[in-house]
Amino acid sequence: MPSAIEVYNLTKIYRGGVLAVDDISFTVERGEIFGFLGPNGAGKSTTIKVLIGLLKPTKGRLLINGVDIAKRPGEIKRATGYAAQETAIDDRLTCMENIYLQGRFYHLSKREILARSAEVLKMFDLYDRRNDLTATFSGGMLKRLDIAEALIHRPQILFLDEPTLGLDVQTRKTIWEYIKRLREEQGMTIFLTTHYMEEADVLCDRVAIIDRGKIKALDRPEALKAQIGGDIVIARFSALDGSIPQEALEAIRGLPQVRGIEPKRDGAYWIVVNQDGDKLIPAIFSICGQAGVSIESISLKKPSLDDVYLHFTGREMREEEASAEAHIRARIMRGRIRRR
Ligand SMILES: Nc1ncnc2c1ncn2[C@@H]1O[C@H](COP(=O)(O)OP(=O)(O)O)[C@@H](O)[C@H]1O
Ligand SMILES: [Mg+2]
Repeated sequence: MPSAIEVYNLTKIYRGGVLAVDDISFTVERGEIFGFLGPNGAGKSTTIKVLIGLLKPTKGRLLINGVDIAKRPGEIKRATGYAAQETAIDDRLTCMENIYLQGRFYHLSKREILARSAEVLKMFDLYDRRNDLTATFSGGMLKRLDIAEALIHRPQILFLDEPTLGLDVQTRKTIWEYIKRLREEQGMTIFLTTHYMEEADVLCDRVAIIDRGKIKALDRPEALKAQIGGDIVIARFSALDGSIPQEALEAIRGLPQVRGIEPKRDGAYWIVVNQDGDKLIPAIFSICGQAGVSIESISLKKPSLDDVYLHFTGREMREEEASAEAHIRARIMRGRIRRR
């Protein structure tokens, strides 16, 4: 059986010269939940659009279920479902009318649409609301309807572009449950993009960290975290004369369980340890005591995907995340106003 998705050396340059995706390769297995994690502008949506045949790649070979996208576009359309970053729901129509239109888009018969929409609406707990105007739906319900619509033609592979963007934490968790259930009950392959670390961590079997069109790392979330070390000891020093405590840092770096020391912008040092960071703390105290360096604070933490992201890209994602959210909220508001 071929893999669900195979991507070899994909590059996408938009007209005007923007290099959105820069020579990436990866494979997604059947039944896998695979995530693209990266900030705004990283190239996530572009990759999805190329994979479902909405955009032409500049370079690269792309296979869905072993079938070359360029050669049999009709087959790709049937095999894949897609829920875009911004929901495509018309709020002047009812839930059922919206999903009906989607079925027509896939050339399903009225009978097929009725049978299948009942199935998917039940799956997403919207069946009782099927005759209500979607203008009355909450953000979470709209997103559920959007994903249900993407499943109307029984695709084997589902593409979700930022499925929980702009939703509150509780609603986000509910959406995760629906996504997990799809995989568990239907063995669906799911490719999703996100800029939420927690989402990638909780939901994905494997995660690719994408930054400026490049894949910086790709592995299971635990394996990514393990790559940067077992633990991180965060320490702030102050030498008596106010200088950088070079000698003490060198001595700490020489300890057998220390993998490396990274100075941070806020003045703290991250001491990356193979494991058992707590056992290192007494040794750090004794080194500093001998070198005449005092320790202002010291703490221990387990690495998170945040740290992994920082490690592989050299940047924090939080600020970019905040601006992306503000942007999408503004767009949702504008969309609502425009339709009235
Ligand atoms: N239609 C387009 N024309 C030109 N540039 C685009 C277009 N769509 C996206 N881009 C640019 O391509 C880059 C990647 O965008 P995108 O794939 O949307 O990133 P993401 O989904 O990760 O936020 C960005 O620099 C973006 O401005
Ligand atoms: Mg996007």
